[in-house]
Amino acid sequence: MSAEFKKAAAVAAVQLVQNGMVVGLGHGSTVQFALEALAARLRAGELSGITGIPCSNHTQAEATRLGIPLGNIEDHVSIDLTLDGADEVDPELNLIKGGGGALLREKIVAQISQREVIMVDESKLSDALGRNFMLPIEVLPFAVRQAQDFITSLGAAPHLRQRDGQPVLSDQGNYLLDCAFGAIQDPYALARQLEGRAGIVEHGLFLGLTTDLFVAGAAGVRHQRGG
Ligand code: A5P
Repeated sequence: MSAEFKKAAAVAAVQLVQNGMVVGLGHGSTVQFALEALAARLRAGELSGITGIPCSNHTQAEATRLGIPLGNIEDHVSIDLTLDGADEVDPELNLIKGGGGALLREKIVAQISQREVIMVDESKLSDALGRNFMLPIEVLPFAVRQAQDFITSLGAAPHLRQRDGQPVLSDQGNYLLDCAFGAIQDPYALARQLEGRAGIVEHGLFLGLTTDLFVAGAAGVRHQRGG
């Protein structure tokens, strides 16, 4: 059911893309549905002249496979619209992202996007960030021990993301810590603390960035505008 809802949210959000736009392409299973919907619009001749900016190596490969024209972020001071998913969404449309490990590039792209369009199924909605999902934090491998100690001092349990007994590497070659904070009372204060610590490359709190939210559930797709 969740996959069906993700697809419905993605198909609705892709309708916002217009001819000639520079389009940020996030990462994850919901973005995969958006890539397929975007490619279908291009094939049908409904849409032309777009340039995609992928947020991960995986998205780059998938977009290429689907025939979506891509560009380099260095060539763009601004992105018209970005399509991305999220792991948790609060009532102010603040987000936890990074479940797929692409949070650093996703945030770089989000920060220069005129519209940050987030597509989710309704299970991602939450009254407080951190209640349902651990906060992903990307750290320099050199600093992993110090970052874990620092995060523990903030009251969270950090877990090094691993696959087959080895640390998972981000596209930048960094490690990811999934941090169990529980409900985060003041996400802005936590973001400032994390940003002040050397060795922490980026965190998955996306605050004040969402301009549009597409939420799909049994009742259909709802489009909510953010700040
Ligand atoms: C990728 O790093 C994440 O920020 C994803 O956007 C997030 O994990 C949502 O993923 P799904 O669309 O697969 O649920």
